[in-house]
Amino acid sequence: MCGIIGAIAQRDVQPILIEGLRRLEYRGYDSAGMVVMDPQGRLQRERSVGKVEALAQRVAGSGLTGTLGIAHTRWATHGGPTERNAHPHLSGERIAVVHNGIIENYQALRDDLKARGFEFTSDTDTEVIAHQIMDYCQQGHDLLEAVRRATAHFSGAYALGVISRDEPDRLIAVREGSPLIIGLGIGEHFIASDIQAMLPVTQRFVYLENGDIAELRRDSHRILDADGQAVDRPVTESSLTAGAADRGRFRHFMLKEIHEQPRAVAETLEGRLAPDGVLEGIMGPGSEEILAQVKSVQILACGTSYHAGLVASYWIEGLLGLPCRVEVASEFRYRRHAVLPDCLLVTISQSGETADSLAALRQAREDDYLGSLAICNVPESSLVRESDMVLMTHAGPEIGVASTKAFTTQLVALFLLVLSLGRHHGLAPARAQSFVEQLRALPAALEKVLALDTPIERLAMGLADKHHALFLGRGCHYPIALEGALKLKEISYIHAEAYPAGELKHGPLALVDADMPVVVVAPNNHLLEKLKSNLEEVRARGGHLMVFTDDVAALGSDGAIQSLAVPPVDDWLSAIIHTVPLQLLSYHTAILKGTDVDQPRNLAKSVTVE
Ligand code: G6P
Repeated sequence: MCGIIGAIAQRDVQPILIEGLRRLEYRGYDSAGMVVMDPQGRLQRERSVGKVEALAQRVAGSGLTGTLGIAHTRWATHGGPTERNAHPHLSGERIAVVHNGIIENYQALRDDLKARGFEFTSDTDTEVIAHQIMDYCQQGHDLLEAVRRATAHFSGAYALGVISRDEPDRLIAVREGSPLIIGLGIGEHFIASDIQAMLPVTQRFVYLENGDIAELRRDSHRILDADGQAVDRPVTESSLTAGAADRGRFRHFMLKEIHEQPRAVAETLEGRLAPDGVLEGIMGPGSEEILAQVKSVQILACGTSYHAGLVASYWIEGLLGLPCRVEVASEFRYRRHAVLPDCLLVTISQSGETADSLAALRQAREDDYLGSLAICNVPESSLVRESDMVLMTHAGPEIGVASTKAFTTQLVALFLLVLSLGRHHGLAPARAQSFVEQLRALPAALEKVLALDTPIERLAMGLADKHHALFLGRGCHYPIALEGALKLKEISYIHAEAYPAGELKHGPLALVDADMPVVVVAPNNHLLEKLKSNLEEVRARGGHLMVFTDDVAALGSDGAIQSLAVPPVDDWLSAIIHTVPLQLLSYHTAILKGTDVDQPRNLAKSVTVE
C-alpha cells in the first residue's frame, strides 16, 4: 500500500527520504517519487515507475537537495502505475501533496475544479487534493488553514503530507482513516506511514488520531483535532532500532521471518503462562470479567489473519464447546448479521491498520457484543487503540508481504485466548496444564521443522514447473492447507486451491493428473485413516502427493508419495507446527521460479484502503 515519508530539517532531507522510501518498500508499491524544496525555494520533483532504487538513481543524477521534502511509494488504485500518476502531485508548482488512501468523491471534485480552470495531469484521485488546497491558498489562506478547509470537501480515507513553495518553514500532515505518524527529532521533524521509515532518524513518535491536522516546523510541532482545537498527543518511545528491518544473513525477509518463528513464538508466550494455565488479565484490565460471561465468539480478519481465525474456531468449539463464527471482514462489514448471545468480538490483524478489519470493528461496536479483543502485532495501531482488550503477538516487525511469523504467533495468541476462556468454561485443569507444557515445547519443535529446509527445497523442485496445485487437510489442519495454498499463490504465482480432504471427490478430483501436485497436511490423528483413503483416490489417478506428517511410517513414501516427517506434538497444536513446512515449500518454489519473494506483484503488506 502507499507509503509516505516527509521531513523538515536543518540538514539535507533527500537521503532521509530515500532511506525512508526503502524502508516502506515492504508495504508493496509500483512507483515512487519525491519533492524537495531546493535552496532557491523551488519545488523540485523526481518520480519513477518501479523500484525505489530507480528513483534513488534519478535523484542522485539530478542532485536534488533541500531541507524540506515529501516522498511516496504508490500502490495504484486510481490510474495505472505510470510516472504521471506517481506522487507527489503538484498544483501550479506551488503546492505539493503525497497521499495514502482514497478520496471517494474525487470525480465530483475534479469536475468542479476543472470547471474553475484547474488543469489535471494525472488520472489519480490525489490530484484533486493539491488543487483544492491551492484553491484556498489563492483565496488568501495560509497553508494550514487551506488544508483544513480543503479536507472538509473530502470523503474517504486519507493521510496527507503537504508543503507549499510560499511556506518553506512548514510541513502539514493530516490523518483521516489512513495511518500517519510524526517523528520527533532535535531541530527536525518527520512524518511517515509507519515508524520503520523513521527509525534511522528518531525513536520518538506521536501517533495522529483521525481528524488531526499537524503543523511541523524545524523546532516545534502543533496538532489540531477534528474541531480545530490544539491537542497534546502522547509521545511514544520505541525500543526498535533501525537494524530491526535488516535481512541479516538471510537472502530474503521472508526467509529470515520464517526462521525467526521459534523466537517469536517464545516471546508471544513470555510472561503469560503459569505452570497450570494462562495468567489472569493478559488481555488487560477488566478482561477476566468479560471472558467469564462469554457464551460465543465472533472472529473477523482478512487474508492470512483470517486463516488464523479459522484454526481458532476449531479450537474454541472443539475444546470449549462455545459456538464460534469466523468471517472475512470485508464481507461482515457490508451485511446484516445476527449477533450470537453473549458474544466476544475478536479481530485479528498483523498490522492493525487493515481498512476492512478496522471498519468491521467500528461497525460491530454498534452491535450488542460483550466486548472486543484485538490480536495484533503493532501496539500503536488503530485496531489496538480502538479495542476493549488486547493480546499482542510479539513477532517483531514483519517485512515480507507474505505473512509467516505473524501467522504462527497469532495462532499462539489465539491458543492463549482458548486457555483463558477455558478457565471460565470447563477446560479441565489437567488438560490446561498439559497444553501449557506443549506450548512451552513449541519453539524447540519449530526449530526441528526448520531443519527440514533441504528436503523441502527438493520437494519444491517438483512444484516449480507446475501451473496448479491442490492442498488438502482435515479438521483444524484444513485452514493450514488454505494458508499453504495462499502462500504458494502469493509468492510463486502458481494457482493453488485448498480443500477439506473429504471434499476431494465432490469436484477437485476431476483435476487430478500427473501435472497436478497435491500437498497434504496429514498429522497422525483420528482422521488419518480417512485421509489415507483420500490419498489413495489421488494416487489411483496418477497424482503426485507431497505429504507432511508426524508419522511417515503410517503413510509410506514411494514414487507417488513423498512424505516428510515433522515432530509429533499434541494434535490441537500441530496446526502450528504444520504451517512451517508449507511456508518453506512456497519460499523455495518461488526462488526456483525467480519471483520477487518479499514484494510479490500486485500485493501490499498493509492494505489501508478498501
Ligand atoms: C494483506 C497482506 C497479508 C495479510 C492481510 C491482512 O493482504 O499481504 O499478508 O494477511 O493483508 O493483514 P493484517 O495486517 O490485517 O493481518
